[in-house]
Amino acid sequence: MVETNDEWITTRTGIKERRILKGEGLGTSFMAAEAVRGLLKKTNTDPKDIDLVICATVTPDYLFPSTANLVCTQVGIPTIGSFDILAACSGFLYALSTGAQFIESGRYKKVIVIGGDKMSSIIDYTDRTTCVLFGDGAGAVLLEPSTEDVGIHDFLLKSDGTGENHLMMKGGGSRFPASHDTIDQRLHHITQEGPAVFKFAVTNMADVSAEIMERNHLTGDDIQWLVPHQANKRIIDATANRMGIGPEKVMLNIQKYGNTTAGTIPLCLWDYESQLKKGDNVVLAAFGGGFTWGSCYLKWAYDAPSKSE
Ligand SMILES: CC(C)(COP(=O)(O)OP(=O)(O)OC[C@H]1O[C@@H](n2cnc3c(N)ncnc32)[C@H](O)[C@@H]1OP(=O)(O)O)[C@@H](O)C(=O)NCCC(=O)NCCS
Repeated sequence: MVETNDEWITTRTGIKERRILKGEGLGTSFMAAEAVRGLLKKTNTDPKDIDLVICATVTPDYLFPSTANLVCTQVGIPTIGSFDILAACSGFLYALSTGAQFIESGRYKKVIVIGGDKMSSIIDYTDRTTCVLFGDGAGAVLLEPSTEDVGIHDFLLKSDGTGENHLMMKGGGSRFPASHDTIDQRLHHITQEGPAVFKFAVTNMADVSAEIMERNHLTGDDIQWLVPHQANKRIIDATANRMGIGPEKVMLNIQKYGNTTAGTIPLCLWDYESQLKKGDNVVLAAFGGGFTWGSCYLKWAYDAPSKSE
């Protein structure tokens, strides 16, 4: 569709494959519901015991009702609270930090946090600067209270609205509602100034990761895993370098999925789950449109059971 080649994509981004959700009428909730069904089964959880569902996405099925709302109905979770969070590629980090507050306050016992995006629904496949980067995917985690020294210890959330024009989807909101004109101008697609975003991402994802290490008195040796947002392998390498972490401790699956926006971090956790051990020090880091960025320090809570699929 566009003039590009495997060598350019691989060397500039690390991406080899991407997944695209096919099927008429299927939105992000379809993938998110599949992730939640797997999560409920794996953790032997009755849908009736879930207290809250939060879904991070920039590609909700509709502007409203929320995707979290739709997922609950699709998987048989009864009438509990559910809502979406929109913080672009940092969305999962924002949603996780929000969900953790409900557990920490003692208010809720089981909170599901989903990150997922059907990026193919907002990609302009005539724009080679974005269409090679993004894919579709979703993942989900379950948060529960613990009396042990595990779980989310700290997080840092940041944003800066001056990044507005560097990475956005201009049409379809209240400023530029859908019209013939917005369609003619292709405003219902992602636009990005790649090099500007790259520069911002390299600096800020590394900064925020270093900051969370420092304030928790962690060195690279103390950390077992870095779980970075998967936007570009070069950005991930720069972050790991700054943290003093070798590549063997960095979760990487960008080659399989590309950038799935809110889906990248939970998809990493899923792919690497069998290697995680109870008590591992894990740092999550992300950045995205807005700009938004952040990091989270957690201690992994369990030794993974072997995967059945
Ligand atoms: C998008 C990105 C991979 C581009 O890499 P880059 O090294 O900055 O490349 P540039 O944009 O400077 O483009 C370099 C050249 O490649 C060309 N190019 C751009 N896309 C291309 C493609 N898909 N195939 C082949 N050539 C391409 C450009 O036109 C440019 O050509 P020119 O030198 O003749 O003008 C990189 O900027 C990036 O990863 N940015 C951050 C994006 C991101 O993380 N976004 C998500 C945020 S959550």
